[in-house]
Amino acid sequence: MIRAGIVGSGIGLKHFNAINNYRESKVVCILEKNKKKAKLLKKKYKDVKIVTDEKVFFKDKNLNLISIASYDEYHFQQILKSINNNCHVIVEKPVCLDKSQLKKIKEALEKNPKIKFISNLVLRENELFKKIKNKINLKEVYHIDASYLWGRREKLFQWRSKTKNYSLTLGATIHILDLVCWMLESMPISVVAKTNNKITKKTKFKKFSFASYIFTFPNNVIASLKADAVCTHPHFHELKVFQKNQTFISNLNGQFEIKRAIGNHYKITNKNYEYPDKKNRKKLIQKFIDAILDKTVTTISKKSIFDLMTACFYADLSEKKGKELKINYLK
Ligand SMILES: NC(=O)c1ccc[n+]([C@@H]2O[C@H](COP(=O)([O-])OP(=O)(O)OC[C@H]3O[C@@H](n4cnc5c(N)ncnc54)[C@H](O)[C@@H]3O)[C@@H](O)[C@H]2O)c1
Repeated sequence: MIRAGIVGSGIGLKHFNAINNYRESKVVCILEKNKKKAKLLKKKYKDVKIVTDEKVFFKDKNLNLISIASYDEYHFQQILKSINNNCHVIVEKPVCLDKSQLKKIKEALEKNPKIKFISNLVLRENELFKKIKNKINLKEVYHIDASYLWGRREKLFQWRSKTKNYSLTLGATIHILDLVCWMLESMPISVVAKTNNKITKKTKFKKFSFASYIFTFPNNVIASLKADAVCTHPHFHELKVFQKNQTFISNLNGQFEIKRAIGNHYKITNKNYEYPDKKNRKKLIQKFIDAILDKTVTTISKKSIFDLMTACFYADLSEKKGKELKINYLK
C-alpha cells in the first residue's frame, strides 16, 4: 500500500489527484508552509493530515512515498530528507539547482538503491508527442525544432523572481529538451545558448526571459530549442521534426504530416491528436506507482533524469561563458 505525502499545494494538488485512490494509494499528509493555505487545505481535505512544519513531515514513518512540488530551491534538501526517511520520491522539475546538488542526490540514491525516483516530465505522456515519437525514423531525422512558448509572463514575478539560481532552462527548456532526448533516444553531445531579457529588464525578474539553444546529438542531429517566458502567445509546445522525406509539425495552426510526393510536390495531411492532453498527465505519476507496487522498473530511469539535468546545467554554463560546450555527463 502506498501512503503518500505531498509537499506544496500548487501543482502539488495535481500530484494529489494522480495518487489518491489510485490502486492501493492514499495521500495521508500534505506539507504546506503557507499557514493561510494550510488552513484552507484542512477544510477541504478532512481525512488528510495537513502540516506546516517540515521537521514533522519528513520524520513521519507512516509515509513511503513523498511527492515534492515546493519551490525549486527546496527540492534538493527535501529529496535528501525523503531518502533519509526511506521514501520513494517524485519531484517536480527541476530536480535541483546545480551540479553539486545533483551529485549528492545521485550518491544518496546509489546508497539506497531500493528507493525509486522520478521527476515529473509530463510531456512524455502526451498523446500527440507519443504518436510523433512512434513515427520517427531515427536513421532519417536530421533536425528537430522545438519551442516552449510559456505565455505566463506574470508567473516570473512571483517566487521565480526570488529564487537565487532560478533559470528558465531548468524551469521551461527542460520539458522540451526531455521531449527531444526521448524522441531521439539519445543525449546531446554539446550545447550553445544565447539569451536576452529585453522584455523583463525593467522588472524584478533579473534573469534571462528568452533563450535559444543549439543542442548537437550523436550523428550530428541538430535540435534548435527555444524557451520563451514572455511571448504574446498561448501556453504551447511547438514542435517540428524533419526527416529525409517526411516532416511532422505541431503549432497553433494545427498538426501536420508532410510527405514528399513527386519532385517538389508535397502531400500535407492534417492530424488531430490530443493536445495539450491534460487528462493523461496523471499517467506519469501513476505508472511510477505501478513500478513501486509491481516491483518493476520506472518509465524514466534515474540515469536519464541525471543526464537531462546535466545537459540543462551545461546549457546555462554555455550562456554564461558565451561559447559552445561539450557536455560531460555524471559517471
Ligand atoms: N511539471 C510541470 O509541468 C510543472 C508545472 C508547474 C510547476 N512545476 C514545478 O512545481 C513546483 C511548484 O510550482 P507551482 O507552480 O505549484 O507553484 P505555486 O506557487 O503555485 O505553489 C507552490 C506551493 O508550494 C508551497 N511551498 C513552497 N515551498 C514550500 C516548502 N518548502 N514547504 C512546504 N510548502 C512549500 C507554497 O506555499 C505554495 O502553496 C516548482 O518546482 C515548479 O517548477 C512543474
